[in-house]
Parts: sequence; structure tokens; C-alpha cells
Amino acid sequence: MEFAALEVFEELNHNVSDSETNKFLDFGCGIGRWARSIKAVYPKMSVYGYDINKDIINLAKKCNPKITFFQDYETFLKTGNYDYIIAPFVFHENGTDLIKEIHKVLKPRGKLFVIDYNLLNLTPNEFKQKFIEPTELEEIAQIGFRNAYLQHTAKDLKSFQNESSNYFNEICSRSINDKYFIWTGIKK
Ligand SMILES: C[S@@+](CC[C@H](N)C(=O)[O-])C[C@H]1O[C@@H](n2cnc3c(N)ncnc32)[C@H](O)[C@@H]1O
Repeated sequence: MEFAALEVFEELNHNVSDSETNKFLDFGCGIGRWARSIKAVYPKMSVYGYDINKDIINLAKKCNPKITFFQDYETFLKTGNYDYIIAPFVFHENGTDLIKEIHKVLKPRGKLFVIDYNLLNLTPNEFKQKFIEPTELEEIAQIGFRNAYLQHTAKDLKSFQNESSNYFNEICSRSINDKYFIWTGIKK
């Protein structure tokens, strides 16, 4: 497992109940790596994946037949009424609107789990020293150092807390390895 997955599943285990009636959405699911692990750990729940990127969703569908993936915003709104939503590494690419969108489709008292980078205001050199894992270096090579630096150092836990406080009550938050944060909230 990578990108703090053990810490994320520890947090999920405290908050998630695996039941046939519960619905779990992986928001900004990419190729569905989190959705797939969530379905494996909580097999009774219905697991969904949503991403704005059509090509990525097509790939996710091919790789994960037990999960319902969709790309269009209307389906996102229609499927709604989720018990749980996870937004992994999506927040750093978005602003407050994303939090409002997620709030709309959660059940009353539904839970949101966010995992993201906690690297606001790092210098380019500090960023280079932190991003040394092969997968990270590969990602930087793909999108270019400048893009990677700007995206990953733009926000942190504090900015997420500020942006989400009108919509969610925080249950728990912590920094992981000085590089990521994990935050859990309940819908207001
Ligand atoms: C850095 S990737 C992370 C993918 C996946 N969550 C993971 O951890 O492997 C961010 C993903 O979020 C998607 N995304 C960004 N903004 C979004 C939005 N407003 N609505 C839905 N998906 C979004 C992107 O298309 C991309 O696939």
C-alpha cells in the first residue's frame, strides 16, 4: 500500500459500518485504486466512483467490475444520498465549491474522509527532498516539476479546515509523516 493507505483504513475502520444498505463514494476516484480497496475491505457496501475525467473512468470500469463508476455530473447528483464519501488527493486541485458539491450528495450526518498533501509554503528544494518515492518521482516526471510543486504545495490541513467549517463538523484530523493530512468530518 502507498500514500498513507494504512492510516486511511485505520481511520475508516473507526467510522464505517459495512452493511448492504450503506453507500460509499470515492470522489475524484481516478483509476479507482481507493474504491477497489474499499470494496475489498467492506464487501457488503455498494461502492461508487466518480471522476470528471472520462478516459480515466473508462479505464476504472475495465479494472474494477464490482464498482459502479460514472463521469457525468447529473449521475453524480442523482445517485446521491451517500453514507460515506472519501476524497483522496482531489482537494488540492479544487476550492470550496468541491466541499459544497460533496455536502449536497451526502446523507444527513454522512461522513467525509479527506486525504491530501500537507505541504503549504514549502520551498522548491524542501519539496524535492520530500518527494523521493519512485511513484512520486514518476508523477513529477509526468506533469513536470513546476506543476507538481504548485499543485502539491498550494494547500494544507488548515486551509481545508477553514474551507469546510461551514459545511462539516470535524471528527478527527492529523498530519501523517509531515507530508499528508487525514481529516474526517460529519455533515452539518
Ligand atoms: C491526483 S488525482 C487522485 C486520484 C485518486 N483519488 C487517487 O488517489 O488515486 C485527482 C483526481 O481528481 C479528479 N478531479 C479533480 N477535480 C474534480 C472534480 N471537481 N470532480 C470530480 N473529479 C475531480 C481528477 O480528474 C483526477 O482523476
